[in-house]
Amino acid sequence: KCDHQGPNRDHKSQHGDEAKMKPFPTPVQDPPILYTKLFIDNDWHKSCSGRKIPVFNPTTGELLCEVEEADSEDIDKAVKCARAAFQMGSPWRSMDASDRGRLLNRLADLVERDQLLLATLEALDAGKVFLMAYFVDLMATIKTLRYYGGWADKIHGKTIPVDGEYFTYTRHEAIGVCGQIIPWNFPLMMFVWKIAPALCCGNTVVIKPAEQTPITALHMAALIKEAGFPPGVVNVVPGYGQTAACAISHHMDIDKVAFTGSTAVGKLIQKAAGESNLKRVTLELGGKNPNIVFADCDLEHAVEQAHSGLFFNQGQCCLAGSRVFVEEPIYEEFVRRSVQKAKSRVLGNPLLPGVDQGPQIDQKQFDKIMELIESGKREGATLECGGAPWGQHGLFIQPTVFSNVTDDMRIAKEEIFGPVQQIMSFRSIGEVIQRANATHYGLAAGVFTSDINKALTVSSALQAGMVWVNCYNAMSAQCPFGGFKMSGNGRELGEYALQEYTEIKAVTIKISQKNS
Ligand code: NAI
Ligand code: MG
Repeated sequence: KCDHQGPNRDHKSQHGDEAKMKPFPTPVQDPPILYTKLFIDNDWHKSCSGRKIPVFNPTTGELLCEVEEADSEDIDKAVKCARAAFQMGSPWRSMDASDRGRLLNRLADLVERDQLLLATLEALDAGKVFLMAYFVDLMATIKTLRYYGGWADKIHGKTIPVDGEYFTYTRHEAIGVCGQIIPWNFPLMMFVWKIAPALCCGNTVVIKPAEQTPITALHMAALIKEAGFPPGVVNVVPGYGQTAACAISHHMDIDKVAFTGSTAVGKLIQKAAGESNLKRVTLELGGKNPNIVFADCDLEHAVEQAHSGLFFNQGQCCLAGSRVFVEEPIYEEFVRRSVQKAKSRVLGNPLLPGVDQGPQIDQKQFDKIMELIESGKREGATLECGGAPWGQHGLFIQPTVFSNVTDDMRIAKEEIFGPVQQIMSFRSIGEVIQRANATHYGLAAGVFTSDINKALTVSSALQAGMVWVNCYNAMSAQCPFGGFKMSGNGRELGEYALQEYTEIKAVTIKISQKNS
């Protein structure tokens, strides 16, 4: 059985056996928010400045809690502890690699124990549909922890055949203190995509969750302590970009920074690394992903996958298939069915059963999306449905479909990060390849066809880190994730991520010839 964990998988079939035995998961009523302080050296700290971050529920606008706000002084404190935890002879450095794997698996057990609570907190803090949080985000979180738990004691060096007077071998060593900066669209999943490969390779971590969504990261901090990780190995420091995250990217004693977020900030991070200590940089940035639908595809399936490939998570995905190229003979029918699907989406409180779409994360994102929708109308695309806010107040946006979109329109070029689908038409395979690649981004792409030759030709030609054929968003912990061009630098997940969290050391020993 295929093990993909993407949102387009039917979770009923994946979890069919469990569903028969257990009642369908429901959110925890009035979930407690137990952890609101900075987590440094396995202890809870107030911020040096005394400042706090207000944390909101984007569905209602209600204040959920306030968490301590880290700034550069707190980052220094966290880095010192992470450095101490990384010293030779420390419990972490002297630990058997298998035991690092056991700790990651124990953490996965604790996440499973708290799965309902974590999914509820994630839905409250990020406006995520609860069942998606439960079945997609939490499942991926648990699988990623177990996957890297398995790698911990399998990170081998090599012996190298050099001149016979020497013996050379390599060691794949931990890099050191890793600074990790993550966004709000998948708060828990991003947290684990970052910490799991870092810890599996033996690094220590200072991680900053997004200011909009720090709650599950702090709950994870408590679980990290409960699992038995030594003090200082993971430090969780909520804060803002221009203060706490800047302190991380400029820090002289952080050896590597890993970032997920906007391309604009990705550039700043790379620059900060260059201006400070040339720390290693991996970046997972934006996308304007082409989804190419040929006339010979299974039409209903392609419509459904293109729909969920765009609208999943309120469209707030770097992977969103936001440029749908449809071959001319099926264009009108494809648009008609896509509009029908978009209109059938149920908006509302994402904790309630039956709701497909929650609010956007905050006012800034809401305004950006609405402004891009207006630009689409102005520039002459056909607004097929949606195009306006939903409900009396709040951050909801109607599922929106534009047809007759041309490549020069802003909605065809810029990352919208909202529930807005662009559908273009094309005539030939050469044309669509050229148009699909005519972007600075290069994260993901989709191809729908029943012709294996077309599938292979197009997937080879696309400049993208992930290409899906007759599916979209099909992801797994084992499969590398990352972008070409301005969509990023380096790969997360899979075996490939291990390279991003290790340094190669070549040791060469002179063999004494005395006895020969
Ligand atoms: P952002 O890139 O500003 O935020 C992501 C993270 O970067 C947050 O933790 C933030 O605190 C941090 N950050 C902000 N400024 C920083 C700085 N100067 N130095 C270091 N770290 C900094 O993204 P934002 O404002 O939340 O969203 C803007 C756009 O970015 C979205 O509309 C979307 O297009 C894109 N985006 C892409 C994501 C992805 O998954 N690749 C995730 C979030 C946003
Ligand atoms: Mg929030």
